[in-house]
Amino acid sequence: MAADLNSLRDAAEAVRRHAYARYSGFHVGAALVDEHGQVHVGANTENAAYPLGSCAEANAIGAMVSAGGRRIKTILVVGGREQLEACTPCGGCRQRIAEFADQDTDIVMLDQSGDLIHFTIDTLLPASFSWPE
Ligand code: THU
Repeated sequence: MAADLNSLRDAAEAVRRHAYARYSGFHVGAALVDEHGQVHVGANTENAAYPLGSCAEANAIGAMVSAGGRRIKTILVVGGREQLEACTPCGGCRQRIAEFADQDTDIVMLDQSGDLIHFTIDTLLPASFSWPE
């Protein structure tokens, strides 16, 4: 599993280099593994009309859905201005992740020291909204 996380981190860092963060200067990359073992990546994509920018997680999830994936097994997010910094998913992306997450989905990011830290969706977004069954 450690090797898988290392390659997911490599994928997130690689896609982060393609981030279009012209306005904030904050570059984010997200890489996720779906229920088929497929990896999907996304980078934040900003816009001159600021609210139209999209987050790295949103783009990775869109890539997953477009490829037929429906469940996130692991998602790893990295971000920062020049160097990597601690970067946690924004509130909107927590809800986006929740749509496709299970209780054991591993949500991974870097802490201030650059070490990987792991969360569940319940810790990141407790009592979240979901569509009534
Ligand atoms: N950003 C993400 O891509 N994901 C997050 O979860 C937090 C924020 C992006 C949005 C914007 O392009 C830049 O980081 C600064 O907010």
